Amino acid sequence: MVIYDSSKRVFKLDTDNTSYVMGVTEEGYLGNIYYGKRVDTTDLVYAMRIGEHPFTPSVIPGEKISFMDKFPMEYSFDGTGDFHANCINIRNSAGQEGLELTVESHNIYAEKRKLDGMPSARGEGTMSLDIVLSDKILGAQVILTYTVYEECDIITRSVKVANTSDSAFYITKALSACLNLETEVSDILSLHGAWARERHIQRSKINYGSYITESSRGEPGHQDSPFIALLSENCNNEAGDVYAMNLVYSGNFTARVQKDHFGKVRASIGINPERFCWKLGSGDAFETPEVILQYTCKGINGMTRNFHDFFRKYIIPSKWVDAEKPVLINNWEATYFDFDDEKLVQIAEEASRLGIEMLVMDDGWFGHRDSDNSSLGDWYVNEKKLKGGLKKLVDRVNSLGMKFGIWFEPEMISPDSDLYREHPDWILALDGREPGLCRTQYVLDLSRHEVVDYVYGMIYKVLKSANIEYVKWDMNRPIAEAASLPLPADRQGEVTHRHVLAVYELQERLTRDFPEILLENCSGGGARFDAGMLYYSPQIWCSDNADPVERLMIQEGTHLVYPLSTTGTHVADSPNHANGRITPFNTRADVALTGTFGYELDITRIAKEEREMIPAQIEKYKKYRHLIQTGDYYRIASFRENGRYDSYMVVSKDKDKAVLVYVQVVTDSNVLTKKLKLYGLCPGKKYVVDGTEYLGSTLMNVGYIMKPLRGDCQSVVVEINCVC
Ligand code: DGJ
Repeated sequence: MVIYDSSKRVFKLDTDNTSYVMGVTEEGYLGNIYYGKRVDTTDLVYAMRIGEHPFTPSVIPGEKISFMDKFPMEYSFDGTGDFHANCINIRNSAGQEGLELTVESHNIYAEKRKLDGMPSARGEGTMSLDIVLSDKILGAQVILTYTVYEECDIITRSVKVANTSDSAFYITKALSACLNLETEVSDILSLHGAWARERHIQRSKINYGSYITESSRGEPGHQDSPFIALLSENCNNEAGDVYAMNLVYSGNFTARVQKDHFGKVRASIGINPERFCWKLGSGDAFETPEVILQYTCKGINGMTRNFHDFFRKYIIPSKWVDAEKPVLINNWEATYFDFDDEKLVQIAEEASRLGIEMLVMDDGWFGHRDSDNSSLGDWYVNEKKLKGGLKKLVDRVNSLGMKFGIWFEPEMISPDSDLYREHPDWILALDGREPGLCRTQYVLDLSRHEVVDYVYGMIYKVLKSANIEYVKWDMNRPIAEAASLPLPADRQGEVTHRHVLAVYELQERLTRDFPEILLENCSGGGARFDAGMLYYSPQIWCSDNADPVERLMIQEGTHLVYPLSTTGTHVADSPNHANGRITPFNTRADVALTGTFGYELDITRIAKEEREMIPAQIEKYKKYRHLIQTGDYYRIASFRENGRYDSYMVVSKDKDKAVLVYVQVVTDSNVLTKKLKLYGLCPGKKYVVDGTEYLGSTLMNVGYIMKPLRGDCQSVVVEINCVC
């Protein structure tokens, strides 16, 4: 529900359990009054504490700057006295930066407006509010859009900047949102990592000064994630206040938490302003990415469940949310570049016999690519490897009863490629400097329409040429030297955002022209795991590290925000190719169970006993697939925290079924059993676990007793069924 109380000049946005309240001052400034548990009144102006700001400009004009530095501005602006980390700044044609925004009008309407060229949450059944702010001197309009998703306790926000003046100006910063808080919060939760170690959870204290998590790599990167949450003191998995923001964006971002000298906390998120500058011509508009905002008093698990429900209902393509996606085998870690059609068919034959449903041909099928040194951009089949062409191979795989998927890296170009030889100017590069290579490749200049069209044309042709039912879209280097040859000097600050917009356009075209193709995003593992990508692809390859122990931590962090069904998880070789760890085949499968589930090893070569375990693993995955895709996820124990074991469970929405995963990473000597307190069951219902009947309240309060497992890296999956 969205209310505007004109007598008090108060906006109030209500979800089922939360309220978000803003007020307009005498001078027209939009202030944030409250965000938290639902309140059923608009009598809240007192909480803006105008009287406490002794320098209110309408009362004491001589101290306006002091007011600006104190007031909890809803969308804070730079250069006119708010010295905190601000959301927006604009440079005029005279080179001066600064603006002042006041409320001009507002509009409340059903559903929501789709963002221009960018992914955003679907809006069925929602209500939205536009608050139009303006700076009359600049001729700038800044429209703040809020959409309320009542049942998920989520509000989305985005901002549109319009130039209503006669001349161009430059947006040097346009974040998507800020939140003004105070004593409610004391901790920060964010996600950090590296290649093969993505999205490890970090919890830190909010101290005076700024905490920043951000990327300037042209994608979120392995290192940081466009997510941040602020927690109340002692907030734990099940209880405590959480304020979370997740940006629907796949490029450079910044998320910042700043505690000022008054102890006030401002958190903001949006496109990273570093090296960003957008020229806005007269009559033009610029849109920021959308941010998904939530408050919950139900602790970290509560935040996770809201995000999961929201992603499933409003972000992930609806077609795939409940779909039974095929169990796949990917040849990357099985063969790397060393394969031909015969090898792939051998893998497919063995895979189909064992119940695997799709073969994905990874990197190395095009141009003359036998290593990562060549051929990106030459998206035509290497017939030396695939004799008789792609269709022949796909038909052979299909005749085994298996689907076929293919790998692309559309944003990249190798110096050793026909495409580069023909168009050496199609790359991002700084004038006069030798462009830097990474994995021996350059980044295509996707700010040029002819490049986008050309690349899409090649992909389209391949996808039309055979019965391809899955595409893995990879991106294996960050963007540096973000400069474009044809763009004028005052538009060079637009290049990285234009790249992201082009990726969205390409994926929009691909999913529109080939609606039956299952798209999986990937970026050197999981460097581009974000809500923007999930809008196009229901799943993202989580990490190049499929070692089950490392995966426990990667998946814990990923599932903190994103649904289990979105995480690309495969059973891979042991010793693991990324870290050399040796683990049991069973544990590798149990850890992959809570994701998309597939295999990535040479099943023609693994031990016979392991191969013969595959049908039962697939059967187990299929048994729990629906529950895992649709249920509520609860974290029980974290190996990252305790250094010994990990446990989580998924409970069906009707609370009649649950599955518990337990992984003992380090074996315990002299410990017989372990007590695990379960979550999310119905206290009064009876459940059967391991043949014994328990009340839900017993399992949740007294706990389930896990029998000891012998040895390191052992796992067990426990089924919990209601007998009511
Ligand atoms: C990085 C991906 O994460 C891998 O799965 C694989 O597709 C390689 N790229 C191929 O180059």
